[in-house]
Amino acid sequence: MTAPTELQNAGEAAASALLAAIEQTSDELLHQHEAMVGLITHLLATALGHDEAAAAELSYAASLHDVGRSAMSGELFAKDGALTDDEIAEIRHHTTRGADLLLAAGFDPDGLAVQAARHHHERYDGSGYPQGTAGDAIPLVARLVAVADVYDALRAARPYKPAFDHAKVCRILLDGDGRCDPAHFDPAVLGAFRDNAEAIRRLWSPTGGA
Ligand SMILES: [Fe+2]
Ligand SMILES: [Fe+2]
Repeated sequence: MTAPTELQNAGEAAASALLAAIEQTSDELLHQHEAMVGLITHLLATALGHDEAAAAELSYAASLHDVGRSAMSGELFAKDGALTDDEIAEIRHHTTRGADLLLAAGFDPDGLAVQAARHHHERYDGSGYPQGTAGDAIPLVARLVAVADVYDALRAARPYKPAFDHAKVCRILLDGDGRCDPAHFDPAVLGAFRDNAEAIRRLWSPTGGA
């Protein structure tokens, strides 16, 4: 398989330095999460009509969406209990920090990887972060990752929550649960999720598809 275009363009030395830094991150749960979000994004992109080359580029970018977390304390993301306002602000900073890391490694400022890192916590109704961007002004890759990200995070066990089964996660994503609301997601991407939920159930693995 050829390397994603963005990786080729970034310049080998800088990109390998970045990827080595990611590989060295000891947070295995984060590696698994990134891999799984990449796979689900590929499936959603294909369901929405993107060809294999485009789906592969979107998937690669998706698999870097939380790269900003590799530069931050894993303890913060695993904290069991209420977070302070400062901790919430710090967690939210993983989006811009990830984009900055990718830019420093030579990735295209307008490319998919930077878009995924910066915008994957934006919400379609404008209530997300870091910029509160709404609707189709949110880059496509970030709209895809938003759904894949929540699916994987809810399926997986975390120090602060148990693993939820597929049916429960579908209900939360498609009907909402008070915290998660369908209005947070691009309706087309959520429709692709609903129509392909069974394929996503078969694809999902607690070890990130490894
Ligand atoms: Fe994130
Ligand atoms: Fe994530």
